[in-house]
Amino acid sequence: MRVKIIGSAAGGGFPQWNCNYRLSRAARTGMAGVHSRTQSSVAASADGTGWVLFNASPDIRQQIAQTPELQPAHDAPLRSTPIRAVVLTNADVDHIAGLLSLRERQPFAIYATAQVLATLEANSIFNVLDPAIVPRRLLAAEKEAALCDANGHETGVIVESFPVPGKIALYLEDTAHPDADFSSDAGDTIGIRIAGVGGRGAVFYIPGCARVDAALRARLADAACLLFDGTVYTDDEMIVAGVGQKTGARMGHLAMSGAVGSIAALADVRIGRRIFVHINNTNPVLDENSAEHAAVKAAGWEVAGDGMEMEF
Ligand code: MLT
Ligand code: MN
Repeated sequence: MRVKIIGSAAGGGFPQWNCNYRLSRAARTGMAGVHSRTQSSVAASADGTGWVLFNASPDIRQQIAQTPELQPAHDAPLRSTPIRAVVLTNADVDHIAGLLSLRERQPFAIYATAQVLATLEANSIFNVLDPAIVPRRLLAAEKEAALCDANGHETGVIVESFPVPGKIALYLEDTAHPDADFSSDAGDTIGIRIAGVGGRGAVFYIPGCARVDAALRARLADAACLLFDGTVYTDDEMIVAGVGQKTGARMGHLAMSGAVGSIAALADVRIGRRIFVHINNTNPVLDENSAEHAAVKAAGWEVAGDGMEMEF
């Protein structure tokens, strides 16, 4: 099983198009230790030939261009792709907008929860992916699923999805009730356990998570690898940076640092490799020379970059 992080930034990417904060500026000017990143997506392959994408980011065209494994093989038909399926972990723009770039009547399968499938259904622009060519399949929680391509052939990638504390997508919030609690545990946001047929060890992919609770800690015990929500380092980071009004918690993202942050909450859970993904352009760990980057490394975590790959 090969797992490749093809996009390690949060929504907006790094640098973000309209961001003039010091980190985006540093990425633009090519400052040492500050690397650009595309938006949130992971690819997995059991046979090295067919690939399953986990989330379809708005940067998918660029991600395919910089990932030869995701391009048509030289001896493949005139129109073809090694992408067999796309699994969606929520309906956020950074996770579904890339579907629109996968039009062109190319068969592959979409897997998602009932809530996320309903969002695709409710937005007719997604009909550019004709369901007769690109079937939409329900990903049932807490059940192992052998992912198949559009024709029902197994990809060799086995997943199990589970709800995590999270939030509905920003554009689905009820603006008439701005003070409402938008938190949700019911499958608006899911985590995924990715494994191969008969494979040893599995990768957990959780790009959005509002809280680490006892159930999640138990689930992650003895995981070979965890790819976890690394949106913000401190909860009020966007406010302090002066770029926004929202805390990480308000966006459904648990901060890395702090007494209840992800580093502390997972410190005593046995995990082989722990890697932060979905990193926001305000997160100081994006600067490899920062004290925060050093603190994350000292705590046993890695900070994902685009193209990072692992094999199981
Ligand atoms: C998030 O992860 O909170 C969303 O991707 C934010 C957004 O829609 O940009
Ligand atoms: Mn996001």
